[in-house]
Amino acid sequence: MEKTFLMVKPDGVQRSLIGEIVSRFEKKGFRLAGAKLMAISTELAEQHYGEHKERPFFGELVDFITSGPVFAMVWEGENVIAVARQMMGATNPKDAAAATIRGDFAVTVGKNIIHGSDSLESAEREISLFFKEEELAEYAKSI
Ligand code: CMP
Repeated sequence: MEKTFLMVKPDGVQRSLIGEIVSRFEKKGFRLAGAKLMAISTELAEQHYGEHKERPFFGELVDFITSGPVFAMVWEGENVIAVARQMMGATNPKDAAAATIRGDFAVTVGKNIIHGSDSLESAEREISLFFKEEELAEYAKSI
């Protein structure tokens, strides 16, 4: 079953949006395979966002993601990587459609509420950065 890594960022946690976000993915029909409220170390932030290391906003990005607790999740389901990104909306909330998470709840690109893996390769890498195998639930095949 396809899996993706999703994370409610510090702004989303602080604004009490965890429940709203979890509810959207549950109602869509995806299954939660793992979740934890956690602090991200600078080292983990730099690994997670390694592909943006040369970008001018990298320092700001690392400072922000380590500024407070995040809610890290693994979700599973058919085409969950692409569909979750549709549900999140465009990275810059000014371009995000209404009824998407960023379209409904965010204004600025730095504080855009949620992160989601953009490919199968990123999903595998990000899941293994944040979760141990034994932290992920196994569901009965019949559900
Ligand atoms: P995310 O999907 O977590 O992946 C990389 C993040 O970089 C992105 O969401 C944005 O929050 C952030 N980002 C992208 N562009 C900028 C920018 N110009 N200034 C600050 N942060 C940015």
